[in-house]
Amino acid sequence: RTVYVNGSFVPEEAAKVSVFDRGFLFADGVYEVTSVLGGKLIDFAGHAKRLERSLNELDMAAPCTMDELLKIHRELVRLNEVDEGLVYLQVTRGAADRDFVFPEGVAPTLVLFTQSKTLIDSPAAKKGAKIISIEDIRWGRRDIKTVQLLYPSMGKMMAKAAGADDAWLVEDGFVTEGTSNNAYIVKNGRIITRQLSTDILHGITRAAVLRFAREAQMEVEERPFTIEEAMDADEAFTTSASAFVMPVVSVDGAELGDGTPGPVAKRLREIYLDESQ
Ligand code: PDD
Repeated sequence: RTVYVNGSFVPEEAAKVSVFDRGFLFADGVYEVTSVLGGKLIDFAGHAKRLERSLNELDMAAPCTMDELLKIHRELVRLNEVDEGLVYLQVTRGAADRDFVFPEGVAPTLVLFTQSKTLIDSPAAKKGAKIISIEDIRWGRRDIKTVQLLYPSMGKMMAKAAGADDAWLVEDGFVTEGTSNNAYIVKNGRIITRQLSTDILHGITRAAVLRFAREAQMEVEERPFTIEEAMDADEAFTTSASAFVMPVVSVDGAELGDGTPGPVAKRLREIYLDESQ
C-alpha cells in the first residue's frame, strides 16, 4: 500500500513519523474518514469543511489548502486502486520536544492512507447492529474530530464482550451518539436524533441523511432521546462515513420491531447510496 506522509507518497514500510509527534504523545491531532465508492470520494467538501473547523477550534495550522488535500486524496485512491473503501486523514500539531504547552513555529504532520473494504454489500448492514449503552465519559468538545479515541475504542470492546456490535453513549440519561457514528430512533414513522451542539460530532453522513429524509417527506425531530425510548422504539439506526446507514436491531437486549433491520433504515440506506454514487 502507498501512504502519504508530509508531501510524499511512499510505501507504507518506508513511511516515518517522529516519536516526538504530538499526535502520538498528546493525541494533539484531528482526523477525517472519507468513503470511496466506485473510485469516487463521497462528500469530500463536507469533510474538508469540518477539518478546517476542527483545526480552527484547536488553533492548529492547516497543512495545505483544501484543494491540495483533494488532489492528495484522489492521487492516493488512484495509486492504491481503491474502488470501494475509505481514506483516512490525520493532521497533528507536529513534532516538538515534549511539553504540554503548544510549540510555536512547528510544521503540522499530515498523514493519509487508504483501506479497501466492502461497504455497500456489508453483511453487518444486512444483519443490523446490536447496541449496548454505556456512560458517555468523553471530554466536552465532541464536535471537534480529535484522535482521542481510547474511550470509543473501549466502548466497542465492551460491546464485543457483551455479545453486541457497538455502544451508544449516554449522558444525563440521554443518548449523545454512538462510539463512531450518530444515533437515531424511529417512533411512529418519525425519525428522532439529537440536535447539533458541542455534545456530538456533526456527522457529514448525518447532514446528508437528514436532508434526504426531509426531501422524501419523512418527519425528522432533532432532540435528545433516552435509552428507554430507544429500547421502546419501532426501529433505530446509526450513520457514519464508514457504514452509511446501519440498522440497529436491539438496544440493551431489547429487540426493536421484529429484530431485523427496519423499513425506514433500509430505505434511507438505499436513498443514501443512490444519491451518493
Ligand atoms: N467516525 N460520531 C462520532 C463520534 C464519530 O466518530 C463519527 C465518525 C460520526 C459520524 O460522522 P461522519 O458521518 O462524518 O462519518 C459521529 C469515523 C467514521 C471513524 O472514526 O472511523
